[in-house]
Amino acid sequence: MKASCSCRTLRMDLSKFVGVSCLFVIVLICSMEMIVLRVCGQAGGLKIGFYDLSCPNAEIIARQILRSAANTDPTATAALLRLAFHDCQVNGCDASILLKSSGKIKAETASDKNFGIRRLDIIDQIKAAVESVCPNTVSCADIIIMAARDSIFFTSGPFIAVETGRRDHATFTSSLAADQALPVATVPVDGLLQTLAAKGLDIGDSVALLGAHTLGVTHCINFLNRLNPQDPRMSPFFSSALKFICRLPSSFNNNITFAPNDLTSLVFDNQYFRDLLARRGLLTVDSEIVTDPRTFEFVSQFAANQSLFFQRFTSAFLQLTRYNVLTGNNGQVRRKCGFLNP
Ligand code: HEM
Ligand SMILES: *[C@@H]1O[C@H](CO)[C@@H](O)[C@H](O)[C@H]1NC(C)=O
Ligand SMILES: *[C@@H]1O[C@H](CO)[C@@H](O)[C@H](O)[C@H]1NC(C)=O
Repeated sequence: MKASCSCRTLRMDLSKFVGVSCLFVIVLICSMEMIVLRVCGQAGGLKIGFYDLSCPNAEIIARQILRSAANTDPTATAALLRLAFHDCQVNGCDASILLKSSGKIKAETASDKNFGIRRLDIIDQIKAAVESVCPNTVSCADIIIMAARDSIFFTSGPFIAVETGRRDHATFTSSLAADQALPVATVPVDGLLQTLAAKGLDIGDSVALLGAHTLGVTHCINFLNRLNPQDPRMSPFFSSALKFICRLPSSFNNNITFAPNDLTSLVFDNQYFRDLLARRGLLTVDSEIVTDPRTFEFVSQFAANQSLFFQRFTSAFLQLTRYNVLTGNNGQVRRKCGFLNP
């Protein structure tokens, strides 16, 4: 705050002193401004409304496209929220997840850990629309975060004032990077806490962020291990229902069958936590945050108080979206999200 105030004064003083020819003035102000911005470290960072001057309609366009996509496919919002997590988790929030396979290098999405990632076409659609009004300006990394933010809001969750100014990953990435950085479906609570502690999230933040599982679905392949033999942390009624959905014991294609993540899987609410207390957790980690005394306290608080959940989720989500970002002159603004700029 302080730094930005003194900067503004300095900038005004500088422009007062400059006279002579028009061209000279412009050149001088520009270079001075660059120095001032560099010194104050603003140009390099994230901020709310990064595109307010360079592409004032970017956020509106993104929101409109997401809204119409979500109207035809209400499950798209869940997909885009998960996409933001899976992008940030690998190399930071830099749209590396959107890069397509290139020659022998397999894309991040080819990793089994990215099974179920879908609706990348919506991001491409937003990017194309934004490029047509302001070329080479809005990063794919920011579009992912904006789409996740709007997905949360459209499904009745909080409006989270995320910063923008991220830039895109500018080198190759691979499915190996995703294999290493993304949690497995069977990860225990320790894995959840370690993964998110690396982003500065404490236990309460981590439980709140996992509350993203209030939206969307999980394919049978990801929880079959808990049905046979039956995981005692799951209610018997619930596991019978799941066995029915997954067509057990006669095996069906478990990559196609899926169950909703909570009773209201199209609404961003605290139902996920209430389901957990009723022993209706789909994944190992969902069940374990109830049985682990370190996390139970937060599960029961969030189940009892939705505003508290929203508040904690908001700060945890902001923290996630700042993870390892490229800003300033680092990285690039990709022209097409699937490919590095030539
Ligand atoms: C240890 C941590 C986590 C694990 C092990 C995990 C695992 C999973 C798995 C296995 C699925 C099902 C994918 C499928 O079968 O299609 C899923 C779905 C989902 N996850 Fe997570 N997750 C974790 C954390 C998070 C976080 C931090 C977020 C967001 C902030 C998130 C958001 C979602 C969403 C929204 C879905 C639904 C996706 C859809 O419907 O397409 N997850 N997660
Ligand atoms: C199901 O998905 C897993 C994880 O991506 C994959 O390894 C496996 O080959 C798929 N099986 C079928 C039958 O599609
Ligand atoms: C729920 O949480 C909010 C936000 O932290 C708090 O202001 C409110 O007092 C809580 N409500 C109850 C009933 O505890």
